[in-house]
Amino acid sequence: MGFDSSYFTEAERELDAIRMRNRRTGELRIEEIDGKYPDTAALRKELTLTSAKLIALITERPENIRERIAALEKENLSLQRDMRGSLVKHGYPEDYLDPIYNCRICKDTGIVEDRRCSCFMDIVKRKAAEHLNSVTPLKLCGFDEFSLAYYDDTRPTELGPAARKIMAKNLEDCRRYAEEFHLPYKSLLMRGKTGLGKTHLSLSIASEVINKGYSVIYGSAPDLLRRLDKEKFEGGEMLDMLTTADLLILDDLGAEIDNKMYVSLLYTIINSRINSSLPMVINTNLTPAELERKYDERIVSRLLTMDELQFVGSDVRVKKGAEL
Ligand SMILES: Nc1ncnc2c1ncn2[C@@H]1O[C@H](COP(=O)(O)OP(=O)(O)OP(=O)(O)O)[C@@H](O)[C@H]1O
Ligand SMILES: [Mg+2]
Ligand SMILES: [Zn+2]
Repeated sequence: MGFDSSYFTEAERELDAIRMRNRRTGELRIEEIDGKYPDTAALRKELTLTSAKLIALITERPENIRERIAALEKENLSLQRDMRGSLVKHGYPEDYLDPIYNCRICKDTGIVEDRRCSCFMDIVKRKAAEHLNSVTPLKLCGFDEFSLAYYDDTRPTELGPAARKIMAKNLEDCRRYAEEFHLPYKSLLMRGKTGLGKTHLSLSIASEVINKGYSVIYGSAPDLLRRLDKEKFEGGEMLDMLTTADLLILDDLGAEIDNKMYVSLLYTIINSRINSSLPMVINTNLTPAELERKYDERIVSRLLTMDELQFVGSDVRVKKGAEL
């Protein structure tokens, strides 16, 4: 897929940093062990020597090179075993002095069998998502700033239980959604009137999922669709991102103007994400009946299969305004 090459450059840089950080950690571990345990240190040094001896053999190419390489390999293996045993004896994991990699598949080179490793493409995707989000103002809220005190605890709502009870469940569901985020994953549909915390909770999810290293795009439907429609004439990277980011948070669905092109873009995004089992969090003020009036059945039927959270209570924005 067509990503701007600057994201590749940024990803290379991030991979460099990862390699450097891991090498440094490895060096510190060696210093630590050498300083504390002379027996382990001696084994480690002998191991380093066998590698040097191997290189010397390969350059010198003596008559009996095969036997000597075989003997060295044997020596190397038995030294490794001893060193691991010695580490365990001192209470360390046996691989404590092994090279450290974030990605075992490509050993942090970003390449496997002449192709980009998936870990590298994940970084590229995250860079592209960060860029998209920096264009929309992404003010991240947290779960800890979400207070249940704004919701009434005394009267039943149209759904039965009091608002606070329902919202406590929503908060709990959103926390768990973020905490357990993985791919593939389910989608959420947050429904409810204005000012009840839909954006607040979805940004809380965004912040936690971003921290886990996933690519997350957050945007309001009116804004994303307007930009997407405009970009169609320019290249199409944005549509790629919206359809392939690990998580798409589509806020204010239904607040965009009625426009056939928007509906068709929405369908493309929602449908292709569902086909690749990629999750979405979608927020709307509209009731199912209103959704049906605004969008065709293909979109509505997909929205209504998502896990639904209903937001209830009275406008927190107004209550907070009154506090000031
Ligand atoms: N439970 C809460 N605790 C603390 N702040 C809250 C809570 N719910 C909402 N807010 C704050 O109130 C304001 C409005 O909330 P939010 O934007 O999340 O509402 P919304 O449901 O997305 O409304 P809309 O449908 O108009 O987009 C925000 O500043 C948000 O941080
Ligand atoms: Mg909102
Ligand atoms: Zn990799």
